[in-house]
Amino acid sequence: AVGRRRVAVLAPDVSGPGARIPAPGPDRSREVLATLHHEVAAATAAHGGAVVGQDEAPDLLLTLLPGPAHPGPPHPGSAPTPPPSPAPARSGFRVVRDDGRVTVSATGPTALLHGFFHVVRQGEDAFTGPDTDETHAPAQALRVLDHWDNVDVHAVMGQVERGYAGGSIFYDDGRVRDDLSRVTAYARLLAAVGIDRVCINNVNVHAREARLLTDDLAEVARIAAALRPYGVRTHLAVSFAAPMTLGGLPTSDPLDDDVRAWWRAAADRVWATIGDFGGFVVKADSEGQPGPFAYGCDHADGANLLAAAVAPHGGVVHWRAFVYDHTQDWRDRSTDRARAAYDHFAPLDGRFADNVVVQVKHGPLDFQTREAVSPVLAAMPRTRLALELQVTQEYTGQQRHACYLGPWWSENLAFRPWGDDGARVADVVAGRGPGPGGGIAAVSNVGDDRFWTGHPLAQANLYAFGRLAWDPALDAADVLDEWVSLTFPGDDGTVDVRVREVLHAVLDDSWHTYESYTAPLGVGFMVRPGHHYGPDVDGYEYTPWGTYHFADRDGIGVDRTRATGTGFTGQYPAPWRDVYESLETCPDELLLFFHHVPWTHVLHSGVTVAQHVYDTHFAGVERVRETVAAWESLAGLVPGDVDTRVRERLAEQLRSATEWRDQLNTYVWRKSGVADAHGRTIY
Ligand code: GCU
Repeated sequence: AVGRRRVAVLAPDVSGPGARIPAPGPDRSREVLATLHHEVAAATAAHGGAVVGQDEAPDLLLTLLPGPAHPGPPHPGSAPTPPPSPAPARSGFRVVRDDGRVTVSATGPTALLHGFFHVVRQGEDAFTGPDTDETHAPAQALRVLDHWDNVDVHAVMGQVERGYAGGSIFYDDGRVRDDLSRVTAYARLLAAVGIDRVCINNVNVHAREARLLTDDLAEVARIAAALRPYGVRTHLAVSFAAPMTLGGLPTSDPLDDDVRAWWRAAADRVWATIGDFGGFVVKADSEGQPGPFAYGCDHADGANLLAAAVAPHGGVVHWRAFVYDHTQDWRDRSTDRARAAYDHFAPLDGRFADNVVVQVKHGPLDFQTREAVSPVLAAMPRTRLALELQVTQEYTGQQRHACYLGPWWSENLAFRPWGDDGARVADVVAGRGPGPGGGIAAVSNVGDDRFWTGHPLAQANLYAFGRLAWDPALDAADVLDEWVSLTFPGDDGTVDVRVREVLHAVLDDSWHTYESYTAPLGVGFMVRPGHHYGPDVDGYEYTPWGTYHFADRDGIGVDRTRATGTGFTGQYPAPWRDVYESLETCPDELLLFFHHVPWTHVLHSGVTVAQHVYDTHFAGVERVRETVAAWESLAGLVPGDVDTRVRERLAEQLRSATEWRDQLNTYVWRKSGVADAHGRTIY
């Protein structure tokens, strides 16, 4: 819609010679403004519109304002501007529509670019809607995508750890790619949904990748330069042992002066090379990564060491709360992995430096299809907390199964840890709850696959993450609708009604469908060990990872109550500590997360646990069958290559769902001896 119109950009064209920039801000301003001019020129050239001057009655005026707070500019030739609404934050923008003419204004180039994409997203509605004067600002100030990419193509877990979309977009052949045009295309996708920070390497920092911080800085700078035109800043995951492994020091003790000086110098070098660098991400004392425990120090000591090094540059340290004992003995019933993050971090509340963000996985275990919300999010009011989500579908079908995660994230964001009158998780991390807020982060799902995400429909997850990070109150189905509109336009730019209907039918409820044929009632981790794809009910039962379900002939589930279990329920504030504690009130979908119950325990839904497993698994496979049929009805209405790829994936989903069904049902039947009330085939 934008491309067909007359568009004026009231900001200097910095791509031309002698151009000057009035806006304050980091270097990236210059390039982002050039991008905006380029986007407008390309869109209007492609669709028959025109770039015009601001005096030529443009349909769309994009204007960069000098100051932080401002009233909107009058639109040329329009009626007097309505009274100004609250000035947008520096990262937000204002949209005024007056009689079909639209003015977007912002005080920063990246915000103006986000405003431009907002208009693009709205399509015709941007121009035909009623008069309006709105400000849009991101709910979360920090919106980050983490890449678990390794430079080394032969890394143990693959080049992209938990990557299901081919190799890395950043690295190839053991080094940063020569051609980074795809990285810039990625930055463009991210800018279109308002993401402005990317961490470019795996949180498990192996020897090769550790050197990004030192020897490879010039190469990292090339990646930063490829992201910068779209206002995306670069972060690095670093190893806590770097002073030893890279600096040759005898220790990485966070209280050691030489160690402190080493990190200061390392940070100074990074910012001298990349002026708008964002900061560091750290996984410490977790799954074999080095950390402060080795020196008798805690995670506040560790995080503050790095925070002091990056503070002079305005940098941020994202310090992950994913810390637990991964060498547990399955015989030890007193250790509960779900408790670990809270036990390690809650006592440290108030000790983290201001520029530390403690990044908390949404659930206390590990990105399962269903788990409770992490109680850490309610336990650290004097700490910047960020919510960490997993866009890459490690435990949700690995981009072979269609699984739209928007509804799952919405549920987490909307969760109110203090009950109906309290703040939501989205408020906590936005700084509108009890604490200062640290934003939102997620593990990215893209790779060098031609569709970016392996399963073409998994692109919807990347889109939804960005949109929900910007505005957590958005409805996940509406977000999907936006994605469909932008992704499957017909020749006239609008989506075929049938395509829209089918994509909703395939994706809206796909997370519930996935849940129904995989692990029931919040039990988690019934996946094949290592790669985590497909069913293996007892695969993790006797391993050191702390991921058990304790099924026997009598029952199943983890007793995490205070009364008789691990006491995990006590990490929640009221009312949840009591809601989860009691069998009467614990929601069905989390029953086995909190309780060990007999197979014959009757759920609130009225059926027994065993019968629930049978019913949901039979129904889940049927839903996948319906999904396949629905998709196939689109033949000829979607691009052929997309259709082919989706069909391949759906065939695998149906095969895999059937395997899940049969293994789960048979397992429960063999353990429990409870027959299916409907006499269906159980092997
Ligand atoms: C999961 C995942 C690992 C990852 C870890 C993390 O356990 O399987 O690959 O390293 O999460 O978040 O650090």
